[in-house]
Amino acid sequence: MGAARACGIDFGTSNSTVGWSRPGQPALLALEDNKATLPSVVFFHAEDGQTSYGRSALADYLSGDEGRLMRSLKSLLGTSLMDDHTEVMGRILPFRDLLALFIGELKRRAEVAAGRGFECAVLGRPVYFVDDDPVADQRAEDTLAAIARAAGLRDIAFEYEPIAAAFDYESQISREELVLVVDIGGGTSDFALVRLGPLRAGRAERKDDILASGGVHIGGTDFDKHLSLAGVMPLLGLGSLLHSGLQVPSSPYFNLATWHTIYQAYTRKALAQIRDVAREACEPDKLQALQKLVTQKDGHWLAMQVEAAKIRLSGEPGAVLDLSRLGAASDVRLERAVFDHSIEGLIERIGATLRALLQEAGVVADQVDTVFFTGGSSGVPLLRQRVSGSLPRARRVEGDLFGSIGAGLAIAASRKFA
Ligand SMILES: Nc1ncnc2c1ncn2[C@@H]1O[C@H](COP(=O)(O)OP(=O)(O)OP(=O)(O)O)[C@@H](O)[C@H]1O
Ligand SMILES: [Mg+2]
Repeated sequence: MGAARACGIDFGTSNSTVGWSRPGQPALLALEDNKATLPSVVFFHAEDGQTSYGRSALADYLSGDEGRLMRSLKSLLGTSLMDDHTEVMGRILPFRDLLALFIGELKRRAEVAAGRGFECAVLGRPVYFVDDDPVADQRAEDTLAAIARAAGLRDIAFEYEPIAAAFDYESQISREELVLVVDIGGGTSDFALVRLGPLRAGRAERKDDILASGGVHIGGTDFDKHLSLAGVMPLLGLGSLLHSGLQVPSSPYFNLATWHTIYQAYTRKALAQIRDVAREACEPDKLQALQKLVTQKDGHWLAMQVEAAKIRLSGEPGAVLDLSRLGAASDVRLERAVFDHSIEGLIERIGATLRALLQEAGVVADQVDTVFFTGGSSGVPLLRQRVSGSLPRARRVEGDLFGSIGAGLAIAASRKFA
């Protein structure tokens, strides 16, 4: 078989990469415009039935092309939606086929970049696809395995994403360390407590080096949702009152703040409900903005604005949103403090998962030499502060936030299929 025909695939909630080990070469293959990441996004064009992927899918959607945008595909794994379908341009599309389309494309692009076919792969997986439900979790892995096989990968293995990140970090160190890997992605937060070192790296069996792994289904898309509900949806009427004294129904706002339910806010029934509510609303302007959002099918546009603002908030105390497209203000300022407050509960759950992991391993905070951060959402300041604060003595290292998992999976693949 040989390692040369083996790759590592990091199918992420937000971004995907494919790694391939060749001596003296960077592991990650270029998947789009010379970049190593392919955003996990598919756009179906209404006009010609074509499909676009990644950045180009996002650009097609934003340029106003008629069609349907699908994001956060990985979050479908392990849910009942996996056996369900959606309708795209009047055609039935099983969600399973949607995932298969994206993963097939990922493999094809990696093969073009590598100039060869891949038959074996180590696929990354979160420690838990589904929290507290081992049966659904196994089903998620089985589904992903079946899709990978259907895409032509004959021999596949799985590795925990944070363990892959650990292998990437291990390839850069010269001494033994006890490392806590903190991988906060778009969909999940994953941890591994691992003993790493150059002398250990070559060993075939690493079980004894892995002290604990854990995770929770919280990630950047949840941060987007909470920021949207706290800072943006109120401008469109969430929490405002009807003349009856009741609050405006919240379901359209929740649908619009959650990536994979945005289309549920566009149904004729949902739109009729918004029109009825607008007539009874104490602040009809806000409901008009909501109505505009829904009739213009701008849900993904808004969610992208919120995500971009969230990312800016990692470096700045405030971020300005232009909502004039919805007939609302052109300079809505979101404060870091509002964001922090909105995600406090999520950060606390991530912190609790981390504490439980250390306890399970029988390791006290002071024993951890290094915290290795990876995943785009590890850039969130409140998250960093909390994790760093709970491990005050540990050195902090930042990996390639979007590439460490793929690079580590390439190492895992070259060992596994050598
Ligand atoms: N500077 C930043 N500050 C905060 N969040 C960020 C930053 N940059 C990217 N993100 C967020 O990081 C997430 C994407 O990270 P990443 O690509 O690591 O996720 P993923 O690997 O696709 O997801 P998962 O591993 O959970 O399946 C998105 O939610 C994005 O908004
Ligand atoms: Mg990831």
